[in-house]
Amino acid sequence: MTEVDRPVGLSASIICADMLDIGAEIERVNRAKVETIHFDVMDGLFVPRLGLHPEMLRSIRSRTNLPIDVHLMVADPEPYLATFIDAGATFVTVHAENNPHLLRTLQRIRALGAKPGVALNPGTSLSVLDYLLPETDMVLLMGINPGIVGHPLWPPTMGKIADLRARIGSAAGPLISIDGGVNFSSAPQMAVAGADLLVCGTSTIYRPPAPLEQKVRELRALLGASGMGARVMDSEVAA
Ligand code: DX5
Ligand code: ZN
Repeated sequence: MTEVDRPVGLSASIICADMLDIGAEIERVNRAKVETIHFDVMDGLFVPRLGLHPEMLRSIRSRTNLPIDVHLMVADPEPYLATFIDAGATFVTVHAENNPHLLRTLQRIRALGAKPGVALNPGTSLSVLDYLLPETDMVLLMGINPGIVGHPLWPPTMGKIADLRARIGSAAGPLISIDGGVNFSSAPQMAVAGADLLVCGTSTIYRPPAPLEQKVRELRALLGASGMGARVMDSEVAA
């Protein structure tokens, strides 16, 4: 079992679920008590795929009280913020790479009543966060090039997690979430490196045949974590 000095949570990447059975899929994540649902939005420009949409988010929100993290992989996120927050987003995470007004976007998300998050592609330096950590409730580190599910982890990600943990420290601060490349061997290493939340997709909980609830139990046992429900919701930025 991994020695982890803080709770580590699991986020269900719903784009990896069976879309023809989405109602039952939401019931499964509710029963499994994952910490959050991860909702991928893609515009075919910022990434080479099309993702989920606001009407689907509204339907999912009507079936769950779990926090939902909307991951906006889009060229221009600001026109969509109010739509996704109105549809039920808890967190709205925007990429740093293509946004000259990142601070303004984070402030708009918070002003609209949601928790802001910043996503960084694998090759993007942590220095873009230098003055922004107090403005965000989550930093989403991509372990893969975004847009296509099921790709292998980019190995330098482990060191990047540790560097970010060193910047944030252990006191209250933005959550560190890892997206892409999370599997049964990388998950414990990510936890030890400093991750708070692991986005689980095709390499873990959405990998048949074992049921999702069993996969979640196996991951929790592996991480030795007791879950972190409370910390996700009260992750207010330290004053
Ligand atoms: C892809 C998405 C990820 C993906 C994770 O860029 O942002 O959230 O769904 O799923 P896996 O771990 O299967 O790649
Ligand atoms: Zn994602």
